[in-house]
Amino acid sequence: MGNAIDIRLESLVKPATPGVAAANSATSAVAEQARGTFFLETFGCQMNEHDSEKVAGVLLARGYRQVETPEAASLILYNTCSIREKAAQKVFSRLGVYRDILGKEQKIGVLGCVAQQEGEAIFSRAPWVSLVCGSASYRNLPQMLAQLEAGAERVTGLDNDTDETFETEVTRRDNPWRAYITIIEGCDKACAYCVVPFTRGPERSRDSARVLSELRQLAERGYSEVQFLGQTVNSYADPSPRKMRFSQLLVESAQVPGIRRVRFTTSHPRDFTPDIVAAIETHPAICNHVHLPVQSGSSRVLRAMQRTYSRAEYLEKIAMIRGARRQTAITTDIIVGFPGETEAEFDETLSLLDEVKYEGVFSFKYSPRPNTPATSMPDAIPEEEKSRRLALLQEKQRAIQVNTLQKLAGEIFEVHVDGASKKENQWYGHSSCNRVVNFSSSKSDLLGEYVAVRVNGCTPNSLLGEHVVRPL
Ligand code: 5AD
Ligand code: SF4
Repeated sequence: MGNAIDIRLESLVKPATPGVAAANSATSAVAEQARGTFFLETFGCQMNEHDSEKVAGVLLARGYRQVETPEAASLILYNTCSIREKAAQKVFSRLGVYRDILGKEQKIGVLGCVAQQEGEAIFSRAPWVSLVCGSASYRNLPQMLAQLEAGAERVTGLDNDTDETFETEVTRRDNPWRAYITIIEGCDKACAYCVVPFTRGPERSRDSARVLSELRQLAERGYSEVQFLGQTVNSYADPSPRKMRFSQLLVESAQVPGIRRVRFTTSHPRDFTPDIVAAIETHPAICNHVHLPVQSGSSRVLRAMQRTYSRAEYLEKIAMIRGARRQTAITTDIIVGFPGETEAEFDETLSLLDEVKYEGVFSFKYSPRPNTPATSMPDAIPEEEKSRRLALLQEKQRAIQVNTLQKLAGEIFEVHVDGASKKENQWYGHSSCNRVVNFSSSKSDLLGEYVAVRVNGCTPNSLLGEHVVRPL
């Protein structure tokens, strides 16, 4: 996320993690026997982070112990991202680092999008790798681990044409308050620039009853916040006879005892329907934040990107969200320098920023990806020009954000306290609308609490305030 204007909260708030030791002891009861140790490193999106939590759960349940350094591990796992070229390049240099520390008895596995994309070619480029496994094959991990344990040198899981999801009872969760639940895997949208449909396979939604029962169990264990995950989360299509709509899933989740916040990401504009807005409006537990990637402000570019909506259609969705009685924060993703993007078309993206006034923008230079239609499109934009456009866009967005944040002085937000800052009596957390809030309080022991904070200032990416004692 190197180029992001990082107002989106996940990138700023570092959750307090229970730590590797706690995770090990939590699952030691189910460990069959000590099979070895693993080190797991993750790059990429929230889906990857959560996949890693599930992979770690599978390993712990199989009797592995998690360690904090690759040197100490018998199995090094590396969960990779290939959304942009830089991320994919990093994988091979990182594998080189692992090769240099690799002892005789150690094995390395490559997981995730680069594994799926490069497949067995990884074995020729990095012959010291023993396992290559894409996300659509994680459900077969126990069998693949058994092969590795039996001494297999090269194990692959590259099946991508599946209608199954990765169901596991044994997820090891890193955040003590917010639980992630994947409700839909893969993507059917075929945007012209994107590798995800190739690396994560077709859309598969999980049974709503299973999602809700997982959520109830998590609530009983003390989680108060859930974040539903999917590349296109609102394209959720319940495969069970209940055929529960996405908005209905949100509503039922909001009613689970103990659940105070229900989040979801990422939404696709095409499937963003009025019932989702109505659900947010009427259920305070459904967070008033929508991440709605636009990618470009030009209808011509959107058509070339195969995004399935025009600028005007996207703006109708924004008007629908902004028209609700409950104010909702909107964030987005933007790509600059898509092949053939003219200066005038880029200006349309800038004017869209003025029109929507997003609460946060993640912006990226277009990066050609293998197999995608955009790779062979004419009129590539030179790298320096992409950088220039990106800088302009980020500068504009920064000014818009500061302006929006300044206007919030005096307002009171409910803040979930994620941690204490180094300074005495200073805490940080986030609001339902996913803003980072730094605040002062004379109280101690606020960690994990929901508190009221009155805003009295801001930085470019966060709100500043003070704890006000009042019933929430
Ligand atoms: N180049 C640049 N950005 C990309 N994204 C996806 N594919 C590419 C690419 N080839 C961005 C999109 C998407 C976000 C997760 O990453 O903006 O919404
Ligand atoms: Fe990629 Fe488009 Fe699917 Fe998002 S909706 S994951 S950008 S193909």
